[in-house]
Amino acid sequence: MRSHYCGEVTEDLLDEQVELSGWVHRRRDHGGVIFIDLRDREGLIQVVFDPDESAAFQTADTVRSEYVLQIRGRVRRRPAGTENPELKTGQVDVYGQAIEVLNEAKTPPFQLTDTDVGEDVRLRHRYVDLRRPVMQQRLRDRARVTSAMRRFLDDQGFIDVETPMLTRATPEGARDFLVPSRLHAGSFYALPQSPQLFKQLLMMSGIDRYYQIVRCFRDEDLRADRQPEFTQLDIEASFVDEDQIMGLMEAMIRQLFRQILDVELPDPFPRMRYAEAMDRFGIDRPDRRIPLELVEVADLVTDVDFKVFAGPANDPKGRVAALRVPGGGEALSRGAIDDYTDFVARYGAKGLAYIKVNDPAQGREGLQSPILKFLPDAAVTGILERTGAEAGDIVFFGADKASVVNDALGALRVRLGHDMGLVADGWYPLWVVEFPMFEYDEQDQRYYSLHHPFTAPQVSDAASFRNGDPEQMLSRAYDVVLNGTEIGGGSMRIHNAAMQWAVFEALGIDAEQAREQFGFLLDALEYGAPPHGGIAFGLDRLVMLMTGAQSIRDVMAFPKTQNGSDPLMEAPAPVADTALQELHIRLRRTVNSGSE
Ligand code: AMO
Ligand code: AMP
Repeated sequence: MRSHYCGEVTEDLLDEQVELSGWVHRRRDHGGVIFIDLRDREGLIQVVFDPDESAAFQTADTVRSEYVLQIRGRVRRRPAGTENPELKTGQVDVYGQAIEVLNEAKTPPFQLTDTDVGEDVRLRHRYVDLRRPVMQQRLRDRARVTSAMRRFLDDQGFIDVETPMLTRATPEGARDFLVPSRLHAGSFYALPQSPQLFKQLLMMSGIDRYYQIVRCFRDEDLRADRQPEFTQLDIEASFVDEDQIMGLMEAMIRQLFRQILDVELPDPFPRMRYAEAMDRFGIDRPDRRIPLELVEVADLVTDVDFKVFAGPANDPKGRVAALRVPGGGEALSRGAIDDYTDFVARYGAKGLAYIKVNDPAQGREGLQSPILKFLPDAAVTGILERTGAEAGDIVFFGADKASVVNDALGALRVRLGHDMGLVADGWYPLWVVEFPMFEYDEQDQRYYSLHHPFTAPQVSDAASFRNGDPEQMLSRAYDVVLNGTEIGGGSMRIHNAAMQWAVFEALGIDAEQAREQFGFLLDALEYGAPPHGGIAFGLDRLVMLMTGAQSIRDVMAFPKTQNGSDPLMEAPAPVADTALQELHIRLRRTVNSGSE
């Protein structure tokens, strides 16, 4: 139904007859001549209908936005002065000779050029939303990314293997989506949070190098970079160590950026220990585009009378940190500081002490701060020296449990970086390494794996693992961070049953539970498991960053809204009682009846 795509009609086709199919992007009536911008996935072309072509002209007069047309016409050079340099096709137009309306369209729910359409409306009419050139481009870029990944991994001898979607709970730290079984009354499948255990089993099967572009399901609170179903590039290899995995993965990401964005990433990617990331940035995914850093000042305030500082400074789990913002003393008003105080409160901070540095040469007189009166000279001088504060700066403080200070100042650092225009251009990839094995949860009074329970510790035998302090133990895990977003994470795995038992034990999983939940893995580890490790990339996040989108929803064809629903298909939805009966399910209360 076409000789060319609309977006391909350029000067190369001057005087040729073309047949085009597409949507009416815009229709204008100019003194008896009708202009139609016809759009398809490759772009726009202007088609002109003149009353001399009377039949076509009359039809053209009836069409509206988003009608689907097929037209025939001749390519002409546009009259001087009417060219449109914004368009690839802007030097020419098509003189329309025939037109057929393939389908009419209601007035669209929003203009394709509107930029502030509500998300709910966009998702409800996603088929219209996806017609927008920017969305088309993102989906095509996503396809180029996955295609380049596949090519790279195929060339490196990785084998694409599919793993089940109907499976058992896989502990990646989120809630599972469950699927009731009809054939096994009262039993449920879980949708995989990742193919973690399957890919390990594939290593035990001798596949040696596995990859899969795979959907993962996690029932967790949604954010701009989190969806309940998302896609991983999942990878595992045998007889390798972490340096080989990291080296290969960097090479893949570098090649991707070169091919898709014509950007050269650093070789190698820098690496940073987890402990250093927390000290300097308060977070395990530092955004290195922002030059601000946290500075430890606990040792300077251990003896001060100000309990807010002295308390955490003397608590082994406490932290007192300073964050210097160059120029912030001049730039930030009282109101702005109040806003930031509210902002850090969301992360549990009880306040946001600060010192404005007007003129450090004048000693105390040159400073402005609600806490100055509580601090002796030595502490003040020590803080100014260590933070390197200069005239015009502001220094913020966090004093609390280390986790609260890190969360609060880590987030404040990023917020200030954006607010003060301090975010550098460019790409800052980073490996974060030497993660702790475990994280203690005060509420549950137990340890959790920082990655997952199959991550190998740095010690290699179960006996020394059992003798170690869980608090101090490091794992063989690594994350890859790009501009402050965690785009991937992985580790070397435990490949020995004794060590896996010991780790379950440290997590408070008793033998019975371990057998019940992971018996298959513990068995498999005893039938010849090779050393192995791998990684998984968040494909949506990577494509979001590469395309400059603000949310992973903008790089998914049919995402869920912030509350996990799909307004287009209206999912999730209630089901008929008979369907529930077959699944042996009775609802505890009638939903949507409004009477209970
Ligand atoms: P992890 O849980 O770190 O590791 O997940 C890997 C990557 O997946 C992305 N990601 C998400 N993207 C969108 N929405 C979500 N809800 C979401 N959750 C995670 C992140 C993350 O870095 N099996 C291990 C990998 C391994 O050890 O090999 C795993 O799943 O970019
Ligand atoms: P207060 O004496 O409690 O009014 O606190 C004096 C200053 O310290 C105020 O600017 C508070 O915002 C700040 N502040 C209070 N608690 C903390 C804390 N845990 N960390 C950092 N600053 C705090």
